[in-house]
Amino acid sequence: MKDLFERIHQNKGPLGKWASQAEGYFVFPKLEGPISNRMHFQGKEVITWSVNDYLGLANHPEVREVDAQAAQDYGSAYPMGARMMSGHTDMHEKLERELASFVNKEAAYLLNFGYQGILSTIDTLVSKNDVIVYDVDSHACIIDGVRLHMGKRFTYQHNDIESLEKNLVRAQNVAEQTGGGILVISEGVFGMRGEQGKLKEIVALKQKFNFRLLVDDAHGFGTLGATGAGAGEEQGVQDDIDVYFATFAKSLASTGAFIAADREIIDFLRYNMRSQMFAKSLQMQLVVGALKRLDMLRTRPEFKAKLWENVENLQSGLKSRGFDIGTTQSCVTPVYLKGSIPEAMVLVRDLRENYGIFCSIVVYPVIPKGLILLRLIPTASHNLEDIEITLEAFASIREKLENGVYKKLSSAIAQPQE
Ligand SMILES: Cc1ncc(COP(=O)(O)O)c(C=O)c1O
Repeated sequence: MKDLFERIHQNKGPLGKWASQAEGYFVFPKLEGPISNRMHFQGKEVITWSVNDYLGLANHPEVREVDAQAAQDYGSAYPMGARMMSGHTDMHEKLERELASFVNKEAAYLLNFGYQGILSTIDTLVSKNDVIVYDVDSHACIIDGVRLHMGKRFTYQHNDIESLEKNLVRAQNVAEQTGGGILVISEGVFGMRGEQGKLKEIVALKQKFNFRLLVDDAHGFGTLGATGAGAGEEQGVQDDIDVYFATFAKSLASTGAFIAADREIIDFLRYNMRSQMFAKSLQMQLVVGALKRLDMLRTRPEFKAKLWENVENLQSGLKSRGFDIGTTQSCVTPVYLKGSIPEAMVLVRDLRENYGIFCSIVVYPVIPKGLILLRLIPTASHNLEDIEITLEAFASIREKLENGVYKKLSSAIAQPQE
């Protein structure tokens, strides 16, 4: 018999195998200073394109003041215990009412973290007789939620409505035999490539099939729709989303999340969702902080307007310089280049050290081999100068990439063992 850790000794995993070259720089980098358009990395100022502080609220003085006051008033312990037991307060209820009203649903329920929250939501919504049909490019938290499901599940090709329809036929056949129902899951915005989920087309399939729709709108909440209520509002189908999910970790620049739906569904989740029944309630500092942020999102449209001004300047600037930014329909701005992982490492080092630009880098296995994805997240705190500097830098690194400069430099990088 093997020692359990033998596998770990031998195989560090697809990213872990790069640790000796990547740790502290490409992965686990330390971005320092107030969250803003310019932060510090290894002692140098960098234009920061890798934080999801879409509305620029993270370091807004009013937000900081409310956070500090809440810490003073409540500390970080209150309330203690799970919501059901001893962790319930008027403020939690108030935030839920305000979130529900903002996303145009009857009720909402707070979650401590988006990741565990949606996982547990999926677990609670379905029984073993039910069938889940979900987009193959779903975020890890959806995949993990589906993993808990004891019944059948089908994936459909990314944002492919024909494929969804085929899988709904399969799901319908199964559900007719088991006596269960169907849950379809999509994201409002797919965070890696920035495409919106085709919610309108998905909802139209409700004419043909009997299913309920859960939407993870982590990146759409606060950024899309006339009021910022997200991808459902943007596409005019908010009422047809049966369970709406968003996190506080992006537009609201905090920690926590929520789900919103009809009152009866939320009540069911309140009484049955394991991640909330068996875990401590969201701490008061975060509840008070979220109320403040939600108020700013609701009453101060200038943050979203500034965000979109920056998104449009960045995306049109990249496109007019011939960059491939894929099919984004959101703030998420991917830039696709061709190259190997070692070339990507040299390129990103050049971007950071010589151009002062910090963005995330995504490579195989997240995207196909031979592609480099530089992912830019514009926010309301960026300005035209940041965008101009970045566009110039991107033009320059592309030239070096195409002229083989990075290839030459990258030959010194040792490939880890497969
Ligand atoms: C699409 C999506 N869903 C859920 C989450 C998880 O949210 P949280 O960070 O609140 O756990 C994320 C966050 O990265 C996300 O991008």
